[in-house]
Amino acid sequence: MSKQKKLWGGRFKQETLPLVEEYTQSVEFDKELYLEDIKGSMAHAKMLGKVGLLSEEEVQAILNGLEQIKAEIESGQFAWSKKLEDVHMNIEQRLTEIIGDAGKKLHTGRSRNDQVALDFRLFVDKCLSQWQQALTSLIATLNTMAKEQQETLLPGYTHLQPAQPVSLAQHLLAYAHMFKRDYERIVDVKQRVRVSPLGAAALAGSTYSLNPFLVAQEVGFEQVFANSMDAVSDRDFVAESLFVATLIQMHLSRLCEEIILWANPCFGFLKLPDEYATGSSIMPQKKNPDVAEIMRGKTGRVYGNLIALLTILKGLPLTYNRDLQEDKEPFLDTHKTIYNSLILMKGMLAKIEFNAQNMLLALKKGYLNATELADYLVLKGIPFRDAHHITGKLVGIAEEKGVGLEDLELKEMQAVCPQIESDVFQVLDYRQAVKRRNTPGGTGPLSVSKQIEEIDKWLKENGGSV
Ligand code: ARG
Repeated sequence: MSKQKKLWGGRFKQETLPLVEEYTQSVEFDKELYLEDIKGSMAHAKMLGKVGLLSEEEVQAILNGLEQIKAEIESGQFAWSKKLEDVHMNIEQRLTEIIGDAGKKLHTGRSRNDQVALDFRLFVDKCLSQWQQALTSLIATLNTMAKEQQETLLPGYTHLQPAQPVSLAQHLLAYAHMFKRDYERIVDVKQRVRVSPLGAAALAGSTYSLNPFLVAQEVGFEQVFANSMDAVSDRDFVAESLFVATLIQMHLSRLCEEIILWANPCFGFLKLPDEYATGSSIMPQKKNPDVAEIMRGKTGRVYGNLIALLTILKGLPLTYNRDLQEDKEPFLDTHKTIYNSLILMKGMLAKIEFNAQNMLLALKKGYLNATELADYLVLKGIPFRDAHHITGKLVGIAEEKGVGLEDLELKEMQAVCPQIESDVFQVLDYRQAVKRRNTPGGTGPLSVSKQIEEIDKWLKENGGSV
């Protein structure tokens, strides 16, 4: 096949240099778009038939040929050739081999410029749906965990310093809300992805009586391009999708960071499942949170892929430029990363064992009921500044004794502040502190169960399993 004629080779006398061929080909990675290329070609052929540019027999021959090619690719029999540059020309060449002249007619009124734009839009749309599915499944897992952890208390942190007691459910639900926003962002982006560019041809539209609406309908897109020059050069839909991905990976990375911290024996809030951890080759006591660390690290490539694409697009004159071929690898890499990360996070979370005892110890150690005591003193008529000072003094005494505020004797407290009475112990109870925070969205049990209910309802409406 070394002397294989290029599909565009009419005016060329010399063969392409081997390194040029290697450097410019994209089939190595864009063959992943074979299903979308076939779908787009089928839609184009049917449209050509409907507007009278192809006979019924020709359309049928093309459809059968494309079906055969799909089967060949899926069974591993298809001979991909770098000499044929990309997925589009590999498939078209094979079609002509199988069905003869009708295959050569498929490209009527079409350019690879609008062809690749359609293929890529179909592909990105498919990936976005997969991200949505993985997101709903992760949200469902977080919500299930929240249901089980409504009674578990732990310190909530600001500045990574123990701040106020919260329920573990509230903490987990914070992530469910982040991933829900990511899902909703995809719904919005999809409106701009699901626009068919076929019919824009090379850049200016076509002299044939094409019907772009029929193609859009056939591939299941709601909209058709409005401007042919924009249609073949626009890659905003890729940039937007890559941006959504950066937020997803950033959210995952924050969760990873907490898993890593909580797995550290200094926190001891959770035990990692063996399947998601590794040991050290030298230190036998270690259990390393590698999956969470690698996931956190992969944020770098996901951010990088967005910047790569934005840089490729910057300064491109209208319309199609071959630079655009560089749009695929960043997206393919991000897709693989995001999808696998979401699946792994869900699996890892479902098997994590929390240690409620250590969480309670951390509440005591961090004096997380100090705010409650200050508020109690204010209710006894003491000005807030003084209440703050008295509480600080009592924390100092408890610290010296190595106990929690709730472990001090009433007499010891009264020595610092005579207004303190035995009802103080109810106030110092961590559970009470959480229970009393039932403002909308707060950590109180009423607010938490409302959040859980609403996420369940949302999952049902959005096709996620509960
Ligand atoms: N492989 C090319 C890409 O991904 C397909 C379009 C090529 N168009 C062209 N006019 N050479 O962008």
